Amino acid sequence: TTSTDHPTPSFDFVVMANRLPVDRDDSQDPPAWKTSPGGLVTGVAPVMQERTGAWVGWAGAVDAEFEPFDLDGMHLVPVPLSGKEFERYYEGFSNATLWPLYHDVIVHPEYHRTWWDAYVRVNERFARRAAEIAAPDATVWVHDYQLQLVPQMLRDLRPDLAIGFFNHIPFPAWEIFAQLPWRAQITRGMLGADLIGFQRPADAANFRRAVRIGLGRPTKDTAIAVQDESGAHSHTSHARSFPISIDATSLDELARSERIIARAAEIRRELGDPEVLLLGVDRLDYTKGIRHRIKAFGELLDDGAIKPGEATLVQIATPSRERIDQYRKIRHDVEQSVGRINGEHSTLDHQAVHYFHHSYPRDEMAAYYLAADVMLVTALRDGMNLVAKEYVACRTDDDGALVLSEFTGAAEQLTQAVMVNPYDITGLKAKILSAVRMPPAERSRRMKAMRRKLRTDDVRTWSRNFLGTLDDLADTRRSATVPALQ
Ligand code: ADP
Ligand code: F6P
Repeated sequence: TTSTDHPTPSFDFVVMANRLPVDRDDSQDPPAWKTSPGGLVTGVAPVMQERTGAWVGWAGAVDAEFEPFDLDGMHLVPVPLSGKEFERYYEGFSNATLWPLYHDVIVHPEYHRTWWDAYVRVNERFARRAAEIAAPDATVWVHDYQLQLVPQMLRDLRPDLAIGFFNHIPFPAWEIFAQLPWRAQITRGMLGADLIGFQRPADAANFRRAVRIGLGRPTKDTAIAVQDESGAHSHTSHARSFPISIDATSLDELARSERIIARAAEIRRELGDPEVLLLGVDRLDYTKGIRHRIKAFGELLDDGAIKPGEATLVQIATPSRERIDQYRKIRHDVEQSVGRINGEHSTLDHQAVHYFHHSYPRDEMAAYYLAADVMLVTALRDGMNLVAKEYVACRTDDDGALVLSEFTGAAEQLTQAVMVNPYDITGLKAKILSAVRMPPAERSRRMKAMRRKLRTDDVRTWSRNFLGTLDDLADTRRSATVPALQ
């Protein structure tokens, strides 16, 4: 249910992200709101649902203005994007410059001044909107690489606010970040926050190094003394890691329901009851290593290490950023290799690879996780990878093997997974085979250890840690501020 309110009230807690948690789908009649893609929404929506506050973000449609509205217990404040801004700020600077730059330059980042100009303009619009709706001394939590300039812009507009920033994706080593023509502006933009959170300690260390080398500013442990434009002390910012997680308890409960258990069994039947079901679930993105995993699986069939009819791979790929060249290319490459493997190894009653280019409701995802014997997470670089944690949360039977890339943030928490370097196809094949053949007792031992870890590593722990630290830092800053004139 949605309702519109005028004028927008002010809020003590504001979340900002490029996307709202829902995405406008104008292809339906009447147009509908559906869940936005990606891990950010999976992680932040449960946090928002249990607090009173507002979420500022783009509604997913271009050249369209929407009034603020309430949905699923959240107050949503849309920020409009024009078609040109969508091309230059979202597809361009966010996803063809920063995304590849921050993911180990897996593909070449493109640098265009017109894209940068649009990024600055859109960040300003977001900052102004949040400044309008934040109550005095409110907490504003800014998310992800699309909004890195917002923290400082917001501080300039509203120095009373407690400002937190969390980067959901990796932060690159200086040697890579240094390519960015606007590296100083981006670093200064983030430093506007009282607290800057990253997924891994290494990401936070890379950022602090960018501050030292790029801005010539010293850092002490996690602290950075930030100066204003005149060189006077402005505030102290802290950069450290807060690994994100999922709502593990609610997924665990969902996976125990009769409905999901029955659906998981039905999925296996519909797939022809394979002895071993392998699963991949990703946005269709070149960072996810989907090609590498399909190549490894195909070679295992070619070599005869896995017999035709023994194992089936299901690859679920959510459509993502579909107009960007590198995303068209990865889709083409994945679909071509699936076609080749099926052409060579499928029979009338057994299909080697099932490939679905869709997104599914949460229930269906939980059923797939419960149905799969082996989960393949082979990202070439990933800030966290929540899919890996979702698989573990759904394994209420303590069964199932997780093959996990060492280049994901999740590898630092799920240390009992079968770790792989996805670039090493021979090694990847051996690890996939060891997961397929893993004795039940070992599967159970590893899964139990990973589930134990997830019980304490919940998304609420993440948000409590981040927001608790932010509150403390903002309190310290405020109590240190002596007004110039009494
Ligand atoms: P990213 O943020 O890069 O997309 P994550 O693995 O961290 O990667 O998060 C992906 C989120 O999207 C997970 O919550 C996962 O369940 C969800 N997801 C991925 N593919 C699908 C799909 N085909 N249908 C529905 N949800 C999906
Ligand atoms: O953190 C990864 C991320 O870019 C998030 O900002 C977003 O939730 C997700 O991937 C989906 O990407 P997009 O918003 O470009 O569809």
